[in-house]
Amino acid sequence: MSKITKTEAKARIEQLRKEIDGHNYNYYVLNAPVISDFEFDIMLQELAALEKKFPEFASPDSPTQKVGSDIAQAPDQASGESKPFEFATRAHKYPMLSLGNTYSREELSEFSDRIAKSIMEPCSYSCELKFDGTAICLTYKHGRLAYAVTRGDGVKGDDVTANVLTIASIPQTLKGDSWPEEFEIRGEIYMPFEAFNRLNAERDEIDERPFANPRNAASGSLKLQDSSEVASRGLACVLYHMLGENLPFSTHSEAIAAAKSWGLPVSEHSRVVDSIEEVNRYIDYWDEARRNLPFAIDGIVIKVNRLDLQRKLGYTAKSPRWATAYKFKPDRALTRLLSIDYQVGRTGAITPVANLDPVPLSGTIVKRASLHNKDQMDLLDIRVGDYVYVEKGGEIIPKITEVELSKRPADAVVPDFPKYCPDCGAELVRDEGQAKHYCPNSNACPVQIKSGFVHFISRKAMDILAGDATIDQLYQKSYIRHLSDLYSLTKEQLLTLDGWKDKSAENLLSSLEKSKSVPFNRVFYALGIRHVGEANAKMLAARFGSIDAIKAADRDTLVQIDEVGDIMADSIIKWFADPVNLEQVEKLRAAGLKFEQETTKKVSDTLSGSIFVVSGVFSVPRDEIKGLIESHGGKTTSSVSGHTTYLVAGEAPGAEKIKKAEKLGTQIITEEQLRALVEPQA
Ligand code: IVH
Repeated sequence: MSKITKTEAKARIEQLRKEIDGHNYNYYVLNAPVISDFEFDIMLQELAALEKKFPEFASPDSPTQKVGSDIAQAPDQASGESKPFEFATRAHKYPMLSLGNTYSREELSEFSDRIAKSIMEPCSYSCELKFDGTAICLTYKHGRLAYAVTRGDGVKGDDVTANVLTIASIPQTLKGDSWPEEFEIRGEIYMPFEAFNRLNAERDEIDERPFANPRNAASGSLKLQDSSEVASRGLACVLYHMLGENLPFSTHSEAIAAAKSWGLPVSEHSRVVDSIEEVNRYIDYWDEARRNLPFAIDGIVIKVNRLDLQRKLGYTAKSPRWATAYKFKPDRALTRLLSIDYQVGRTGAITPVANLDPVPLSGTIVKRASLHNKDQMDLLDIRVGDYVYVEKGGEIIPKITEVELSKRPADAVVPDFPKYCPDCGAELVRDEGQAKHYCPNSNACPVQIKSGFVHFISRKAMDILAGDATIDQLYQKSYIRHLSDLYSLTKEQLLTLDGWKDKSAENLLSSLEKSKSVPFNRVFYALGIRHVGEANAKMLAARFGSIDAIKAADRDTLVQIDEVGDIMADSIIKWFADPVNLEQVEKLRAAGLKFEQETTKKVSDTLSGSIFVVSGVFSVPRDEIKGLIESHGGKTTSSVSGHTTYLVAGEAPGAEKIKKAEKLGTQIITEEQLRALVEPQA
C-alpha cells in the first residue's frame, strides 16, 4: 500500500466501500454471505488503513463507521422463505454498537497498552467467548420482558419479541425482586450445532438451500413470521452486556452474576483476569477447546471489567474503547479436487459433489464436499485438478471456500455442468430465480422414483417398516412404479425378494395395513411435494382439512397464508396440475389412506360469520387457538382487513396488526375473551 497515489487510493476506497456494503447486505439481510468473515475483515481492514492514510476521503457513510444493518426488508432468498417481512421497528435506547476486532496477538497487546496509558492504573479484564450468532437486545420492565429487538442498523432494529419468547431459556418474568425497575440486557441468539444439523437435514430433504452456517440459521430463524415455527428451530441465547440508568454494580462481572441470579442465561465460560498474559492463556485454551463446544464461537471478547473505567474509556462512533474481539482464523485445509459427481435428489434437484484427495481437518478426514449448485461453482471458478481450501463451519458436509489459483495445474479441466440427468438422461431445467438445476422427469427418473418411495415409507411420513434395499429390489423387479403400487403388493411377490421368508413378508404387509391409519397431515407430507416439509404439511392439513380443499385452493389463497411463499405455492399448484399425481391420490384413497383431517370436529356454530386474525403467543400453540375458532364455525385469516371481525391478541402480538386493527376499528380481544365467547359460563 505504501506506493499508492491519491487518485488510486480514492478509486480503491470507493470500490471497497461498494463491495463491503454488498457483503453487509448479503450477511445481514439475506443471511447468505458469499465470502468468509476472515475475507470480509481483511477488506474492512484495508479500507480502514486507506482512510487513515488519506483522511481527506473519510466519510461518515463509510462501512468503517457504521454497523451493518439486519433490518428485515427483503425476501429471504437464502431460505426460500420469500414472504415480505412484517416486523415493527423500534429505536434503541442506547445505540447498539459493534466491537473492534483483530486476528493478531500484537494488536491485542496494543489494545491493552492503549488502555493502560489512558487509565494509568492496573486493570482486570473479563474474557468471554465470542458467540457466533445474531445480536439481541432485551428490555425488562418491572421484572417482565417488555421487548426484544435485533441490532438492526444500530440505532433501530426489528421488534422480534414474539419469536424471542419461544426460546426456552429466556424468561418472561425474572426471579426474585432485586432487579432494577428497567434495564436492558444484550446478548446473542445462536443455534447449537445439533439443531443446526437437524434443520439443514430437513431443508435438504425438501430441496431447500441449507443455511451456510449456524449464525445465518439463527438470524434467519429469528426473522420468521410464524413463532411456532421459530419455537421448533432449537434456538439458544446467552446474555453478556447489561445497560441501564444508575445500575447498582461496579463491575461488568457483577452485573452478569446478578443477571444469572434473576434467571437470565449467561455464559459459564467467562473469566476475570488481571493481565494481558492471562488473556493470552485464555485465548490459547479456547483456540483448542472450541472444537468440543456444542455451538460455534468465532473468537474471544475482552472487556475492561470495572464499569467506571469503561465509562472513562468511552466509545468511538462504532465500538467501545473498553472492549475488543480476538478472532480465530477458521480451520481450513488445502487439498486437490479429483472429480465432481452430480447427484440427483428425491425431487430431481441436481447437487454437484466434489471428490477430494482425502485430507485431515479438525479431527476428521475430509473426502467429499458439497458444491451446492452451478452458480457456486462459477463463483469459485473451480476446475477439476485444482487445489482447493476446505472449511468446516459446524456443518455435516464441509465446504470449499476458495481455489488456490497459484497452484492451478496447466491441465486443470473446466467442469462441464451436465445438460442431461445423469440417471435418466432427461434434459435438465432451471426455474427462474432458483439456484438448482432439476431433472423434470419426476414420473420416470429411477433415482427420483426410488427416493420418492424411501421418503413415503420414512418414519415421519407413513412409517412403513422397510428400508432402501427393499425399495431397490421391489423397483428392480418392477413391482413398484407408483406409490399406490405398494398397497397391491402380494405375499407371493415379496417371497421372491432376496432372503425374504414368510415372516418378513407378513411384517411388511401388516406394516402397510397399519399405515392406512396414519393421519392426513403425514399422508400429505409423504406425497413428497417439493418445498412442502413436515411442518408445512401439518399446517396446510390443519388449515384446509382435506386434500380436496388443498387441491381446490388457488395460488392467491395459498400465498395469503403466512407460512406459504411464492415458491411453495407454485410447487403445490404444479403438483396438483399433474394428472399422474391426481390418479395416485385417487388410488391411494381407494387403498384406504386418509385424505381428510380428523381433528377439527365441529362443536358449535357460535362463531359462524365471524372472521378472526390470531397474533402473538398464547397459553397453547397458536394453531390450537385457530382450531378452537374453526371448531365453533369461525374463519381465520392471516392479515387484518375491513372484513376482520376480531383480532385475538396474545403476548407480544404483531405491532403492525394491532396498528391496523386500531385504525380500522376492529375489535381486539384476549385469549380469555375468545374462550368466553365460545364457552359461555352457565
Ligand atoms: S459485548 C458494545 N460480548 O460480537 C459491544 N459481544 O463482532 C458489546 N458477541 O456486537 C458487545 N459474543 O453481537 C460481546 N461475549 C460477547 C459476545 C459478543 C458475541 C457479538 C456481538 C457483538 C459482535 C461483534
